[in-house]
Amino acid sequence: MNYEFIIAESAFQPHIALIRLNRPKELNALNLQLMQEIKHALLTFDQDDNVRCIIITGNERAFAAGADIKQMESKTAIDMLKIDQFETWDQIRKTKKPIIAAVSGFCLGGGCELAMTCDMIVASETAKFGQPEIKLAIMPGAGGTQRLSKAVGKALAMEMVLTGKFISAEEAMDAGLINRVVPEELYLDEAIKLANEIAVQSPVAVRLAKESVLKAFDSGLQEGLHFERKNFYMCFASEDQKEGMNAFVEKRKPNFTGK
Ligand code: CAA
Repeated sequence: MNYEFIIAESAFQPHIALIRLNRPKELNALNLQLMQEIKHALLTFDQDDNVRCIIITGNERAFAAGADIKQMESKTAIDMLKIDQFETWDQIRKTKKPIIAAVSGFCLGGGCELAMTCDMIVASETAKFGQPEIKLAIMPGAGGTQRLSKAVGKALAMEMVLTGKFISAEEAMDAGLINRVVPEELYLDEAIKLANEIAVQSPVAVRLAKESVLKAFDSGLQEGLHFERKNFYMCFASEDQKEGMNAFVEKRKPNFTGK
């Protein structure tokens, strides 16, 4: 796939696709076209049966330093309304396959929001997370006030959003924002390792389970439990469920096909 601001590989590793943000000079600032390219790549990977897990990454210096300030600087409220840029971002949330953000360096503003919209975050020790929009006299607009609060709780989210302070990978780990912290040279390898642990599972069960965990964030408990139960029953419609249980009984490794 040929894009200008990202590099996308559907077969980066067996069953693992990779999206690399590729505006290194601008610290991977997320301009409108880059976000459209991410949307297109995610839609393509979601339809590709060979892809079971997706990794989004940047480079050692920056995952992404936020939405492109230079592109937004002169916009009016009505311009922003018409552009409706966050509609593109909704695709990330709608992606059915699991997405892992592999983060090193700056992960700020829209960059932090992009990482938080992914399903899991693996970070290098050098990663810095923050929502510094307040310093530009704006505020997070791509889910930052909501997802950060749910991930780290009100106290830290409020402080980060109102002061723009950055937190280290270690602090992000302690606060529950991310899954793993590893030395810088290992963050992509670690994300691949995690992706492989998911890619060997049944794609059908993974899809239904991901949907169910996400449901916990936008429903009450009863509705969520009802949704979970339906998805649990749905697993029994798959050949993978028979294979998984058969393999257990026969004391062998399962081979899941996604059927
Ligand atoms: N948009 C556009 N360009 C950006 C950018 C951004 N978000 N972040 C960095 N850049 C550009 C810089 O302008 C600079 O370009 P030039 O070389 O042409 O001047 C280049 O990337 C390198 O950046 P710095 O020279 O500033 O590097 P630094 O190491 O001194 O500082 C930094 C790094 C602390 C991340 C600093 O660049 C910075 O504060 N960036 C902005 C962070 C920010 O405010 N993000 C929020 C954006 S708004 C948003 O995201 C809204 C939303 O909710 C969707």
